[in-house]
Amino acid sequence: MNIAVLLSGRGSNLQSLIDAQAHGSLSAEIALVISNVPNVSGLEPARKAGIPVKTINHKDFPDRKAFEDALHVALLEADIECVCLAGFMRLLTESFVKKWADRLVNIHPSLLPSYKGLNTHERVLKAGVRFTGCTVHFVRPEMDDGPVILQAVVPILPDDDPNSLAARVLEQEHIIYPLAVDMIASGRVLFENGQIKIKNAGLPGPPIINPSS
Ligand code: GRF
Repeated sequence: MNIAVLLSGRGSNLQSLIDAQAHGSLSAEIALVISNVPNVSGLEPARKAGIPVKTINHKDFPDRKAFEDALHVALLEADIECVCLAGFMRLLTESFVKKWADRLVNIHPSLLPSYKGLNTHERVLKAGVRFTGCTVHFVRPEMDDGPVILQAVVPILPDDDPNSLAARVLEQEHIIYPLAVDMIASGRVLFENGQIKIKNAGLPGPPIINPSS
């Protein structure tokens, strides 16, 4: 399965997908990386790995539709079958999302549907919850909405600040994104009544209590 990664910045999730492909644990080919922001560091891992890279700067287009048309054409030209958003900081319109329905995935640094949007770690800490995590999901027109494919839970520690928490969540992002993409590419992700069922899913570990006694 040919996949594209869309990003706007750092690219650590792209790196985790590239690493998984290099280790043979991603049954997909990263065929294109697109950034909507010129010269971001996130493009470097792709260039190093010899993956075709494109910058499609939203500022070069008169409106959202024209920008998304250019994205769509680039994806079609590269025979892309699944699009992975990885820190892509543009909201996509309903029309684009519908064109790629069930072939467009995103990773978000919280346990969706809680804490959609930006500054998740700050809000999680402020709320005083004991767990957060990250989610890979299919994209729907509403922001950070859509059927959940995979989640990882991260406990919050007493001394956490937004940076320490973000770093621990990111470690899990780098595990679940390649895993989820591999599940999609190998045909293990099935839709059942609008929810996702994973074929041959392994059981998770035991429940955890935070703080422990
Ligand atoms: C990640 O935290 C991801 O969950 C969110 O944007 C961030 C992108 O980080 N959607 P990176 O560019 O992959 O390092």
